[in-house]
Amino acid sequence: MSIDTEPIITVGPAKDQDPEAIAALLIPYVELKIVLPRSPEDIRQFLPNFLVARVNDDEVIGSIALRDFSDGLQEIRSLVVRKDYAGKGLGTMLIEAAVAMARERKAKKVFTLTVRPRLFLRLGFVSAPVSDFPEKVWSDCLACPKRHCCDEVALVMPLQNN
Ligand SMILES: CC(C)(COP(=O)(O)OP(=O)(O)OC[C@H]1O[C@@H](n2cnc3c(N)ncnc32)[C@H](O)[C@@H]1OP(=O)(O)O)[C@@H](O)C(=O)NCCC(=O)NCCS
Repeated sequence: MSIDTEPIITVGPAKDQDPEAIAALLIPYVELKIVLPRSPEDIRQFLPNFLVARVNDDEVIGSIALRDFSDGLQEIRSLVVRKDYAGKGLGTMLIEAAVAMARERKAKKVFTLTVRPRLFLRLGFVSAPVSDFPEKVWSDCLACPKRHCCDEVALVMPLQNN
């Protein structure tokens, strides 16, 4: 007789072997133009910026990344949770962990451009004009396939402990 056990989900730093798995998680949502593409090489280069959700200390089922725009500004990007684990609070856990990492980095504020604002608003993010983040516009938005029909909103969380 086998006994079913609940899978154990953890959120923590990405490991050296994770870039391919993270890139694979992103692909379906890159195709839907919800997240920007990241190659395994790109992810490996910025691995310390990535946090992942893992099941039973093994398979990667979610990811999130910070991007340092310097001067105390961090962006949350590359947020995905594998479809079969969605709606269980993992996206929320990943955002909370990324905000904690931004605090550890002594960031003044963390922002995101997202199609899922409620997730972030519940955690204390507030709306902001995209024009508040010209670094983002210049680095990503101008080359984005949705630049003339953008459905994302900018949200920001000031980090008061600095
Ligand atoms: C957006 C995304 C990361 C959310 O991940 P998730 O793990 O489903 O997130 P959560 O479970 O924390 O929250 C999702 C919803 O489930 C609800 N929820 C949270 N915990 C829950 C639980 N234990 N049981 C049931 N529902 C729950 C939340 O209220 C939330 O509802 P809302 O977003 O409609 O307000 C995921 O759906 C995804 O990968 N989407 C495609 C890529 C994408 O959109 N990325 C974000 C672009 S910035």
